[in-house]
Amino acid sequence: MVDEKAVLDALRGVRDPEQQQDIVALGLVQELKIADSGVTFTLAFTTQSPQSKVTLHSMASRIVGRLPGVAKVQVKMGGAETRPAAAAHGHAHAPAAARAEFIPEVRHTIAVSSGKGGVGKSTVAVNLAVALRQTGGMVGIIDSDVYGPDIPLMLGSRGRPGMFDNKIIPVEAHGLKMMSIGLLVNDREPLVWRGPMIHSFIQQMLKDVMWGALDYLVFDMPPGTGDAQLSLSQVIPLSGVVMVTTPQEVALLDVRKAIGMFQKLNVPILGVVENMSYFLAPDTGNRYAIFGEGGGQRIADEYGVPLLAQLPLDPETRVGGDEGSPITIRRPDSPQAQAFRALASAVQARLHELGALKPLPTIG
Ligand SMILES: Nc1ncnc2c1ncn2[C@@H]1O[C@H](COP(=O)(O)OP(=O)(O)OP(=O)(O)O)[C@@H](O)[C@H]1O
Ligand SMILES: [Mg+2]
Repeated sequence: MVDEKAVLDALRGVRDPEQQQDIVALGLVQELKIADSGVTFTLAFTTQSPQSKVTLHSMASRIVGRLPGVAKVQVKMGGAETRPAAAAHGHAHAPAAARAEFIPEVRHTIAVSSGKGGVGKSTVAVNLAVALRQTGGMVGIIDSDVYGPDIPLMLGSRGRPGMFDNKIIPVEAHGLKMMSIGLLVNDREPLVWRGPMIHSFIQQMLKDVMWGALDYLVFDMPPGTGDAQLSLSQVIPLSGVVMVTTPQEVALLDVRKAIGMFQKLNVPILGVVENMSYFLAPDTGNRYAIFGEGGGQRIADEYGVPLLAQLPLDPETRVGGDEGSPITIRRPDSPQAQAFRALASAVQARLHELGALKPLPTIG
């Protein structure tokens, strides 16, 4: 079990940029409690700016979360109440005018979806988000897969969201701001309870999370054409949706249904990503079309939308997902990372083309 000294030593590594001293020396760390592998403490802020509070909070929870023997970190802010399980408090009937005001500082909202499970939505969402971040934008990612929230794992994030001023502070991972339904829902919650949570979760993510100014907010969607897609497109005007498919016909069937649904909901289709398009054998250089060929292009042509990328099957992409270090971070020079950056540019170009650019409000 981790001891108090180890926690405080780690926290001495977090410096207040304004006062040029570490947060332990400044006396900000209070009410430190350690129970089994869980660590709780309060950051008793004084004159720090809101931005510093958020940064220090996130750094403190991250640094303690990385200590051996720590499985869970909860950092309270200045005695503000924490309410980690607030997902159940819905705001299901927000008036239409209020909806668009939920995230006024977010310029583009992009859903990554597919009718089908296991085609690589989460992998694409994570690496697209990182690649967009690498273009210099501020990027957030919301994991709204109630049934299998994979994003914290894929980003290697062990942090917990904090609370400040009754707002949820997203977790930071690889330069992204991240929230996952997995962080708010008990792992052992029976699946049957999870479906109905999706609407209030999405509302809460947009209303109660302190995202700040973001250029892009990416949503990783659960498989299927169900409640999550419907809720999301009802709550905010989505800039567009990226449809992920694999090349074979069975995947295309599901993707058609999903595209049809988004079209009915008036969500612009940004384009199609064909994932697992082929495999290049590292020993011979031979190219194998494991799931067939041409499906992505076919579906793109059918709906008159661009084929945004063809991503090969790449073992290291899978390893990156399992180990929490996306390929765009662990091997930025690899062809796969380049392909994700090209995807990010294609998405940006398409957003531009669709005139989805909202002016960013001035923050003063
Ligand atoms: N291009 C790729 N090359 C190699 N492995 C990949 C690739 N894309 C995805 N994978 C792997 O395939 C598996 C499924 O991918 P992922 O979880 O992203 O799919 P998903 O569509 O989000 O699935 P679900 O519907 O369950 O949410 C993961 O193990 C992932 O690492
Ligand atoms: Mg997924």
